[in-house]
Amino acid sequence: APAPRRSRLRLFGRVIGVGLLGGAGYTAYGLYVSRHPPMQKPFDPTKKTIAVLGSGWASTSFLKSIDTSEYNVVVISPRNYFLFTPLLPSCTVGTVDVRSIVEPVRFISRHKEREVKVYEAECKSIDPVNKTLTFVDTSEIKSDEAEKTIPYDYLVLGCGSQNQTFGIKGVEEHACFLKEVWDAQKIRTRLMDCVETAAFVGQSDAKNEQEIDRLLHMVVVGGGPTGVEYAAELYDFLKDDLTEWYPDIAGKIKITLVEALPNVLPAFSKQLIDYTESTFKEQNIEILTKTMVKEVKDKEIIVQQPDGSMKSIPYGLLVWATGNTSRPLIRDLMAKMPESQTMKRGLLVDDHLRLLGAEDVYALGDATATKYAPTAQVAAQQGKYLARVFNQQANRWKLEREYDALTAGSEKDRLARKINKLRDVRPFHYSHQGSLAYIGSEKAIADLPFLHGNISAGGVATYVFWRSAYLSNLFSIRNRALVAMDWIKKNVFGRDISRE
Ligand code: FAD
Ligand code: NAI
Repeated sequence: APAPRRSRLRLFGRVIGVGLLGGAGYTAYGLYVSRHPPMQKPFDPTKKTIAVLGSGWASTSFLKSIDTSEYNVVVISPRNYFLFTPLLPSCTVGTVDVRSIVEPVRFISRHKEREVKVYEAECKSIDPVNKTLTFVDTSEIKSDEAEKTIPYDYLVLGCGSQNQTFGIKGVEEHACFLKEVWDAQKIRTRLMDCVETAAFVGQSDAKNEQEIDRLLHMVVVGGGPTGVEYAAELYDFLKDDLTEWYPDIAGKIKITLVEALPNVLPAFSKQLIDYTESTFKEQNIEILTKTMVKEVKDKEIIVQQPDGSMKSIPYGLLVWATGNTSRPLIRDLMAKMPESQTMKRGLLVDDHLRLLGAEDVYALGDATATKYAPTAQVAAQQGKYLARVFNQQANRWKLEREYDALTAGSEKDRLARKINKLRDVRPFHYSHQGSLAYIGSEKAIADLPFLHGNISAGGVATYVFWRSAYLSNLFSIRNRALVAMDWIKKNVFGRDISRE
């Protein structure tokens, strides 16, 4: 009896071994293919050209799904990478490294059947009548030919939005924003500068308490998800790392969140708003609601308090997160179509994402003013939808060519029916997957759609869900591996307190 059991075990061991080897081989092959994609077809002047503006959520999702067999694609974006914005607040304190959440556009475009032209440049103007666009290399190093004008057959506008300041005096000069990689780097540098300067002052002049308090006052303006997540990350950094490395001054670091409305996170359910506010209270993050910033000076902000009176609040670091507004390029385009483009908030499109007032121009994501919130979820779904529309058109063209080559008969009739079906293009439909936000102390909140209602959850378990959701939504295996390693690194060694 023992002999057959041993041989069964051996067989089992071999099966497992072969399985593991196969799995490793498959992963290695996947990595090889992802680094060395097959040769691409060249640009084809007989095909239609799609110009894609931007390399954010909307444009990248479009690029990922577009079938280039029937199109030439040109991507123009001032940054040559995609940025996974949901983890950007984590980069401001070094929980995650910025390099872990970006993916170069060329890593994506190299996998297309046909070569995709990528220009790191900023589009400066669009001529929707003559179907041309002009873009400029705005980087430090430029060639003699820094400006180009190219024609397009179709234009996909995914150039997002810029930070809203409401024209409040001093914001542009003195505040830090949180939208791009360089914003997170600037915040990290300023934060450490404030802490080191406070430590410097503290060592030589213990009497200068007022200046130390100012330097260590971190103010966040805007209680939307960006402001809340930033305040949360800052709190974690303070609790986990600064307290350890700066024991003399860490206790003086103060975080204040200023919000004009009666509560933070207006888009979340009441239960989660209360939970966030009480968690912030436990963390000593002061929330000033019904308080509107009226002016920003280099060392203080002037706010209007709920009773209407004005007050000065000194700060060391000021992070401004009061939402989005249209970019100059978009405003310029709107001005060319004043009858159809009547919303200042963004571009108006129909339910197929076609820009109102222009032919063959599509707009998606934060650049538009639609019934949807300006979120990554919406932008990504719109990008995927639009690529599907273009792919459907490409399939139709292929069938039409086959149809033209056939003589009359049942096959031709069958093709005619198929072609007619492909003419029917469905409108964009958004499927909401829920809203998540990190609120510090390894707690997150989630509003998730369930059946016809909504489930609200907050706490440590939600944080585990938040982490796994973001990890699985990251762009590539490379990004997932890097972010997972950053999280492990942070737990083992703590966050890096060096200045960038
Ligand atoms: P973007 O992603 O902003 O991309 C715009 C692109 O256009 C960029 O590549 C930019 O360089 C390029 N561009 C700019 N000007 C020009 C020009 N003149 N010519 C050509 N290209 C140009 N949403 C969620 O759903 N969940 C989240 O958890 C979440 N977290 C966020 C955290 C932060 C800190 C921030 C700032 C936003 C977050 N969002 C989140 C919102 C989300 O990031 C945006 O809604 C989303 O990025 C919009 O996608 P987009 O493609 O329209 O614009
Ligand atoms: P937001 O528009 O959501 O919030 C900005 C807040 O600033 C508002 O609550 C507003 O009342 C306040 N405000 C405006 N002016 C002010 C002033 N002068 N003084 C004080 N407060 C003032 O902007 P946010 O957070 O940048 O988000 C932009 C978009 O990105 C939203 O659609 C949001 O849903 C999305 N996002 C989603 C995240 C998530 O799901 N976790 C994370 C970050 C952003």
